[in-house]
Amino acid sequence: MLTVAVLISGTGSNLRALLEAASEPGYPARVVAVGADRPADGLQHAADFGIPTFTVPFRAYGSREEWGAELAAQLRAWKPDLVVLSGLMRLLPAAVVAEFAPNIINTHPAYLPEFPGAHGVRDALAAGVEHTGASVIVVDEGVDSGPVLAQERVPVLPGDTEASLHDRIKPVERRLLIDVVRRIATGELNLRTPASS
Ligand code: GAR
Repeated sequence: MLTVAVLISGTGSNLRALLEAASEPGYPARVVAVGADRPADGLQHAADFGIPTFTVPFRAYGSREEWGAELAAQLRAWKPDLVVLSGLMRLLPAAVVAEFAPNIINTHPAYLPEFPGAHGVRDALAAGVEHTGASVIVVDEGVDSGPVLAQERVPVLPGDTEASLHDRIKPVERRLLIDVVRRIATGELNLRTPASS
């Protein structure tokens, strides 16, 4: 059974979908802890499933490195096989990425390498593209620049707002995330050589 720690910043709807999948008999991964960089609403989903949570408030630390060191310490305590960034809206310090790499993945609401960063949906809308998408990637030291594990196109519709487009992307993200975690757990997907698996 693959053990997973999830990090969030917001509402945690994708986290909830993963928790629901992981509670199904036969799903080969389980969530062992959920952490956040602020008192995120989404921590409630973990509580609903009886999963321990921790918060490492970014603003309480003098630097990104100090915050990252505490976050890594909290994660380490759970010995997760995999760390999932599910809406964590902070760039992890390189030392944290190095400690957990390559077993650290991220979901993103765009078809990477298109529209990386904190405003993937807004940027796609502003660019006037007809299609954007959802991606699950391996985290590296860059901003949404690691190897793509799964991605799918989502059309931009006339009259879309950032919220309506994001609402259509998220179900795709959830499906991709649940499937990627399953394939990592079964060994179908190898994070050391993602392109060849
Ligand atoms: C998701 O769309 C996730 O991909 C995005 O935040 C949302 C979190 O939603 N992450 C990023 O944009 C990271 N660059 P949720 O809190 O409802 O799961």
